[in-house]
Amino acid sequence: MNNILIAPSILAADFANLQRDIEMVNHSEADWFHIDIMDGVFVPNISFGMPVLKAISKHATKTVDVHLMIVDPDRYIQTFAKLGANILTVHFEACTHLHRTLQAIKAEGMQAGVALNPHTPVALLEDIIQNIDLVCLMSVNPGFGGQSFIENTYHKVKALKSLITAKGAQTKIEIDGGVTNKNAKALKEAGADVLVAGSYVFGAENPTATIAGLKELTR
Ligand code: DX5
Ligand code: ZN
Repeated sequence: MNNILIAPSILAADFANLQRDIEMVNHSEADWFHIDIMDGVFVPNISFGMPVLKAISKHATKTVDVHLMIVDPDRYIQTFAKLGANILTVHFEACTHLHRTLQAIKAEGMQAGVALNPHTPVALLEDIIQNIDLVCLMSVNPGFGGQSFIENTYHKVKALKSLITAKGAQTKIEIDGGVTNKNAKALKEAGADVLVAGSYVFGAENPTATIAGLKELTR
């Protein structure tokens, strides 16, 4: 089995010391930066927007994985490419023409991701999975960091892994929300490829060691 990728979620960083926290991730064993963009409409919270992403990209030396929790994401695909996103993930629930949206993301040179809310079945991806580089399974309801992990996620990871294998797709599975040392290993065993961790990493006394601990657990 492959080594699992760890993506610290910047939503839980100290925004008054953002450069320090970005450098911490740069120098840690983490693989990606996970950046949550919320519009206060698709989710009941507003995080940060373009100028902050621009500032993050300037310092980040690892893959920038942008998770859009916004309505009508098509309006901003080009903008996010210019701001330095390497992976752009849109919500299944926010896209009427998902196939077209994914094509537009790839046309801008980014990898295309699709996020599913906890209530959205993975079977809905049956006819699009081959066009998706990354599926982000929400293991909490999107909008806030620090929530508890929803146990049904294990079942969804397994179902998604079977779908990917059955279709011969190369899609990666990312888990987002409530990831800690308590569920990391089991998530990997269920078929996850990428674990997002926000409050577990940035809330720790030693975030670098916490990232290393997640890597070690999933090796
Ligand atoms: C939730 C965000 C997550 C969040 C995860 O809407 O998509 O990426 O930052 O935070 P934790 O790890 O604290 O659950
Ligand atoms: Zn996220």
